[in-house]
Amino acid sequence: SHLLLINGPNLNLLGTREPAVYGSRTLPEIEQALCEQARTLGHDLACFQSNHEGELVDRVQQARTEEVAFILLNPGAYTHTSVALRDALLGTAIPFIEVHLSNVHAREAFRRHSYFSDIAAGVIVGCGPLGYRLALLAAHERLAPAAG
Ligand code: DQA
Repeated sequence: SHLLLINGPNLNLLGTREPAVYGSRTLPEIEQALCEQARTLGHDLACFQSNHEGELVDRVQQARTEEVAFILLNPGAYTHTSVALRDALLGTAIPFIEVHLSNVHAREAFRRHSYFSDIAAGVIVGCGPLGYRLALLAAHERLAPAAG
């Protein structure tokens, strides 16, 4: 299936940004590893990052025309603010898994609320870059449930 990884604002700085919170791996490293893992599972993964809310909305809308079966989404700070990105996901009706590298529940109170969690197929928080891989496995399982 066609899968899409979307990362929101400041995630382009991974590797140098608050490494104690977000780890030392860069976004290109994470994306490349995830693409290989997707291929191994028989999927085709496209990756997109933007610091701009409207570009993220546009990318989600575009996913509909590309027949994307599942989205893996780390909305960054837009997690806590973006009705527009939420509406884009509702509008396309493509299932998605919300990923956060850090444990948003163990940080500032404003990070505890997400505009996405109640409409997500699943939520993975606090597992670092491994979270993306877990999200990929969860999407794979939803798309092709293993017997038993
Ligand atoms: C984040 C958590 C958000 O609160 C923050 O604004 C980010 C990254 C995470 O992956 O832990 O930019 O989504």
